[in-house]
Amino acid sequence: MKVIGKNIPRVDALGKVTGRAVYADDIKIPGMLYGKVVRTKYPHARILSVDVSKAKALPGVYAVLTAKDIPGSNRVGVAITKDQPIIADDKVRYMGDAVALIAARDMKTAEKAARLVEVQYEPLPVVVDQEEALSPNAPKIHEKGNLICHHKVRKGNIEHGFKEADIIVERLFKTQMIEHSYIEPESVVAEPLEDGGVRVTGCMQNIYTTRRVLSAVLNLPLHKIECVQTHIGGSFGGKDDSMNIIASRAALLALKTNRPVKITYTREESMIDSYKRHPYKLYYKIGLKKDGSICAMEIKIFANGGAYASMSEFVTWRSVVQATGPYRVPNVSTDIYAAYTNLNYTGAMRGFGSPQIILANETLMDECAQLLGIDPYTFRKKNLFVTGDTTATGQVLPGYVSINDVVDAVVRASDYLNKWRMYKERQGEPAVKKRGIGLACSYRGVSLGAEGADFGSCVVNLQEDGTATLSIGITDMGQGARTAQAQFVSELLGLTLDRIKVLEINTSRSPDSGPTVASRGTLIAGNAIKDACSKIRKTLERVATDFVGASQEFVFEDNMIINPGTKESVPIERVIRECVKRKLPLSEAGFYAAPYTNWHEEEGQGLAYFTYVYGANIAEVEVDTETGKVEVLKVWSAHEVGRAINPEGVKGQIYGGVAMGLGLGLIEEFEFKDAVPQTINFDEYLIPTSMDVPEVVPIIVENPDPVGPFGAKSVGEPANELAAPAILNAIFNATGKRITETPANLEVVLLGKKLKK
Ligand code: MOS
Repeated sequence: MKVIGKNIPRVDALGKVTGRAVYADDIKIPGMLYGKVVRTKYPHARILSVDVSKAKALPGVYAVLTAKDIPGSNRVGVAITKDQPIIADDKVRYMGDAVALIAARDMKTAEKAARLVEVQYEPLPVVVDQEEALSPNAPKIHEKGNLICHHKVRKGNIEHGFKEADIIVERLFKTQMIEHSYIEPESVVAEPLEDGGVRVTGCMQNIYTTRRVLSAVLNLPLHKIECVQTHIGGSFGGKDDSMNIIASRAALLALKTNRPVKITYTREESMIDSYKRHPYKLYYKIGLKKDGSICAMEIKIFANGGAYASMSEFVTWRSVVQATGPYRVPNVSTDIYAAYTNLNYTGAMRGFGSPQIILANETLMDECAQLLGIDPYTFRKKNLFVTGDTTATGQVLPGYVSINDVVDAVVRASDYLNKWRMYKERQGEPAVKKRGIGLACSYRGVSLGAEGADFGSCVVNLQEDGTATLSIGITDMGQGARTAQAQFVSELLGLTLDRIKVLEINTSRSPDSGPTVASRGTLIAGNAIKDACSKIRKTLERVATDFVGASQEFVFEDNMIINPGTKESVPIERVIRECVKRKLPLSEAGFYAAPYTNWHEEEGQGLAYFTYVYGANIAEVEVDTETGKVEVLKVWSAHEVGRAINPEGVKGQIYGGVAMGLGLGLIEEFEFKDAVPQTINFDEYLIPTSMDVPEVVPIIVENPDPVGPFGAKSVGEPANELAAPAILNAIFNATGKRITETPANLEVVLLGKKLKK
């Protein structure tokens, strides 16, 4: 292959490094107003009255909107439950809720007007803990009660399974709320259109989802709404719902004032408003036989959904499916509950319900090895999936199962076993600084699986000069999607990369490819592009026959069409010109529908995902036993990705994923006091810096998947889910102390638990 599997530089790199790339907040339109959100003063309160008269009277103010001004629905959502208001009406449920919206000639005036909005509240008691939220006496956040959803998995016979066990372990794990920390805060510009519709341009991760929400809120048909995506300054799953809300707010103001309106959140607004990663409480119980095999697992998980349902229904489903990890477990009973609280709502974030369960499960697996008196690698090898095994949901794993290869690769590269033994022996020594090494493994369903309609579409448009444009709905939010897409077109049509342009995403012009989530971008885009390009090739081959003779296997390479039999070749643009003369189509739509999946909610069984990826991380750490400070020295990260379309891109995902995982494991926590956010800028909300991130050794394992384009599967989210548990297990290897709570900050490492603030 010419370009697939090669380290192709990013197609969007030059624009970004020269500053020519346009981000949402760069946009200025003549006559544009500035929008401001007036937010609640209480995390939970009944709204008694909203008086906007003084704000409206302020010179330079063009509109002040309350919930009454919303023409359509004021209850939106991206999953199943639609419960989130664009502007709060009866109640406020978290500190990010809006009570009014303002459009003014400049930001200063808008801010002044915001202070003039008078709201009377009746404060209500708050609930912050997800388990407490489900007790009958908890304050009710929504009419229907505080349960957002419950999913389960049932396999075998759990009582029977535990009866066979020689060792039974029960552990509770707790994970924290964390922030996506994209560098670019939420930003959109809304413009009224001449037909009464609206255009919203901004950093939305999924513009078709945004359009759906806008349609409901504005009471406009889809075709009158145009959503345009700018470059995105990071998302990590975070520019889904939050962007729908800000887009709706800007569009309401634009239609009311009949002028363009821009809203860009400050960092503080972004952190107060946006959704986060779900904090989980995970109760794990596992039964082991003396021979080292797992006979039963019983799991109960409580997810903190915050004020609105958002993606909770889908996030927790992925958790319940994957909760027992890449291991053979004959008897399984898993339950997960998501509950409303008065914290920020929680939704999609890189990993999407997997980092929490892997953290718990992999820490537990390490402890199981300890209790059996064997090393963590040998214990895992005894139980890891092999080809033909059945998952907890009763699915026979498709294709060759590579997890053993992945684990072996990372164990070999890091000299894990020798180091693990050496550090274990040194645990009792009096040294202040102690080293340790830890292993963690995972498997992950690729794409949406049974949680959604899994399809992709695109248009490839061949130009008369032998160049091509690609229009597709799969988003580049920094992960390199456009580059991979250009590589697919290049490989399939034999065009050099300088001849390909991947177009901006616009709901009026680009075909919908479903949301860019669930590490589905490469597989979905590649397959849709393959479909379009194979149609174009058929046309070109028919005409090329007249130039270079007939062949069963034309080669498309370096902008030429080659007959390998006659060795004759013709420039592709000559064939194209001939196609134009003969009135043949050179623009083709491509479509891809993912293979069948299913889910039986009642039985807790199903064919959850059409294929899986496998990963393993090893972390080596040094723990200061006097301060509890953990320094991560090195991380080896192995991922089976099917096929690496752009190896440097895959490595980039691994480096970033490990850094983010380190943040989850050791550093980050979005904190509240009585449901009021406390860490609302990066002076207090700490993320890893370049000084915290160690050397990362990426190991790419290939195992081309029959479903993937050129065999490609995914890496974006898997790369993020393994560093934290590997680090926690390394801390144990160094100190003999088991960490069951994140972040493993100084208190947790030193004292075993977080001190209450
Ligand atoms: Mo992603 S966390 O599936 O947007």
